[in-house]
Amino acid sequence: MHRTDVVKVFPQPGLPSLTMRVPGDKSISHRAAILGAMAAGETVLEGYLNSADCLATLKALSQLGVKIERQGERVRIASSGVAGWQEPDDILDLGNSGTGLRLLAAAVCRVPGVSILTGDASLRRRPMGRIVRPLQDMGAKISGRRQGELAPLVVDGNGASLRGREFKLAVASAQVKTALLLAGLSADGWTVVEEPALSRDHTERLFRYLGVEMRQEAGRGRVAVAGGQRLRSFHLRIPGDISSAAFFLSAYAPVPGAEIVVEKVGVNPTRTGILQVLQRMGARVEVANLVEEGGEPRADIRLVGGNLKATEIGGAEIPLLIDELPVLSVVATQARGVTVIKDAAELRVKESDRIEVLADCLGRLGVKVEKTPDGLIIPGPQRIRSGEVDSRGDHRIAMAMATAALWAEGPVSIEGAGWVDTSYPGFFSTLARVTRVEQEERRA
Ligand code: S3P
Repeated sequence: MHRTDVVKVFPQPGLPSLTMRVPGDKSISHRAAILGAMAAGETVLEGYLNSADCLATLKALSQLGVKIERQGERVRIASSGVAGWQEPDDILDLGNSGTGLRLLAAAVCRVPGVSILTGDASLRRRPMGRIVRPLQDMGAKISGRRQGELAPLVVDGNGASLRGREFKLAVASAQVKTALLLAGLSADGWTVVEEPALSRDHTERLFRYLGVEMRQEAGRGRVAVAGGQRLRSFHLRIPGDISSAAFFLSAYAPVPGAEIVVEKVGVNPTRTGILQVLQRMGARVEVANLVEEGGEPRADIRLVGGNLKATEIGGAEIPLLIDELPVLSVVATQARGVTVIKDAAELRVKESDRIEVLADCLGRLGVKVEKTPDGLIIPGPQRIRSGEVDSRGDHRIAMAMATAALWAEGPVSIEGAGWVDTSYPGFFSTLARVTRVEQEERRA
């Protein structure tokens, strides 16, 4: 798809039963590619997410001299280890990907020469000081626009050495945590990261799978990694992305009796907040055929829709469903009572200011919501009118609005629909299995 494509999604009041799969997990794909490239030897990944974000990470790694071969969802990475990475001969462009940029900025801290990392207009607006300052503290020579707050970032690895440090993060962020742990691998001494609440722990699980020396207290957002470690190469099958499954599970949740099964999805407890919330609101959720591979659990998720009631989402639950808040806001419009989303100021620094953009998009469909500094207040149930919305370059807004269209009074046109390729290529073809989806002429 082209990013500016406009897609018209038609309502489908009686959703047909659906069994489906989703592409590989975005967070795990990024981490597995970067850790595979930092390891010496040959790493093979299966189920790799072929989305714009994860392909940008592979391209940047090949610019650093790592050999990458991709056949569909199978990626083969041959590397002599991070110590063999070369100075890139051009800027590393991570596109729309905060994970790619933040993780790689940390991984290149000791690569001889200068690495320059940037991204698209959205990524160049997102906060980078949260990784730049602590990396500087460890001894990295990293800087960026506006005193290190914004990309492009410049990393000078010539003669750089890193010291392990102890960090207390102001916000629970798996990207910041991972960046510091990656830098910690090649630092002197231990690097400790403490978060105010537990965020997704894919890095910690991969570290454990690879036998990295680390310490972690169960259920607590505190993790330590020993410095001076070499990684071993590995084989990993990546589970389906629950954040992609979220759009379809949410679509079925407010339709009483409607049934959906999403197979082979990652159900890491630091990612399944959405299942708890949909259940609390009145959907029936079952997890079956649980298996674990590479430290990550995956399972089939079955959901049967119900008459939903409103809920409150906040506190330590937020990092467990941060990427699902756009679609959960849309679900809330169909629930009886007032849903409150709070403690989610991070929504303002995602691919778009998701609080503003959600309120605007829902408003265009006749839905009234109240914006707060750290969330949204959504009364329900409300009717969703036919209309036109703009994703504003945010993949999850485009998919959340496509979900809303299913229960609307008439079709919803989504401008900038092609941005779904950031995380979920094929989203609209799967959606077309349950409703009418028309691609309209591309707008300039
Ligand atoms: C991610 C962490 C989250 C999430 C993002 C992916 C990751 O961001 O929103 O989509 O892969 O670590 P933050 O770390 O900024 O919370």
